[in-house]
Amino acid sequence: MAEAASFLLNEELVAIPTETVYGLAGNALNAAVVLKIFEAKERPSFDPLIVHIPSKEVALLYAKDVPPVALMLMEAFWPGPLTLVLKKKSIIPDVVTSGLDTVGLRMPNHPMTLALLNTIDFPLAAPSANPFGYISPTTAQHVVDQLHSKIAMVLDGGACTVGVESTIVGFENGETVIYRLGGLTLEDIRKVAGDVVVCVNSSSDPKAPGMLKSHYAPSKPLYISNDLNSLIKINENYRLAVICFGNVKINEQHAVYNLSVKSDFKEAASNLFSFLRAIDQRNDIDVIVAALLPEANLGYAINDRLWRAAVK
Ligand code: TXA
Ligand code: MG
Repeated sequence: MAEAASFLLNEELVAIPTETVYGLAGNALNAAVVLKIFEAKERPSFDPLIVHIPSKEVALLYAKDVPPVALMLMEAFWPGPLTLVLKKKSIIPDVVTSGLDTVGLRMPNHPMTLALLNTIDFPLAAPSANPFGYISPTTAQHVVDQLHSKIAMVLDGGACTVGVESTIVGFENGETVIYRLGGLTLEDIRKVAGDVVVCVNSSSDPKAPGMLKSHYAPSKPLYISNDLNSLIKINENYRLAVICFGNVKINEQHAVYNLSVKSDFKEAASNLFSFLRAIDQRNDIDVIVAALLPEANLGYAINDRLWRAAVK
């Protein structure tokens, strides 16, 4: 931890654990460091970064005109998988927010990273610690596999418990808007915020977040459907990996990756990215097929990732 803090103080990048996915972190108040993050990820400069803070009080140092419903959401769900897009104060460099006048703020729920954030006196800009467009990392090893030459260290906090990125929420004209479905469910957000507008449509011009059509994508082709059996049949001449959910029977000749045999959405979310990575590394698989999950709970966020990862 001390080493991580000192690297960060010295303008280096450190990969940090969070409950959702690993982040590629650097001093959010230092524009030169933030540029290094974009370079290491090969991320286009129009895609803004999330700023990680250790408390609600610290969040309010960087945001202004915070609507009451945002304060209620912080109170209810921080620390946790919720990013709030708020009007930014000028202390946040424009490069962090890709020139937007808002900043995405999140208090992550991981003891190591919270302790780290409390040790240093600046917030951490951290996108997911993967090359742009590829599957997000949910273990320290995933980060090392792809970014080891570009970062000073990885703080190993174990496997991420949530496994999909934070839900991103903003506020426009008095409405609460969901920009990215994620680890905090819509059902939970509605309990605190009431009605919300879901605006997660794909776009090649993401003024809005994580909305790029193609993202989270493995190198092998991935096909998705509600009708898994037909999908398997169409692709039966390939060596298949089958991603499924719940108590289903799949022909043993295929490599079967069941996200959760007992239909547990949480378990499924925590398995999704590590399954995709594991399959992507196999030499004996040509094509991945996946069943879409029921549209409820974390099923929305998981399906969103599958849609973006799939062949268009
Ligand atoms: O769970 C997470 O959110 C993880 C962990 C590391 O905290 N981070 C993450 O970061 O997923 P990233 O960079 O992979 O995705 C952040 C998304 C981007 O798609 C970006 O467009 C959006 O957040 N975003 C950030 N600031 C924004 C803003 N001011 N307005 C709209 N979208 C914003
Ligand atoms: Mg990402």
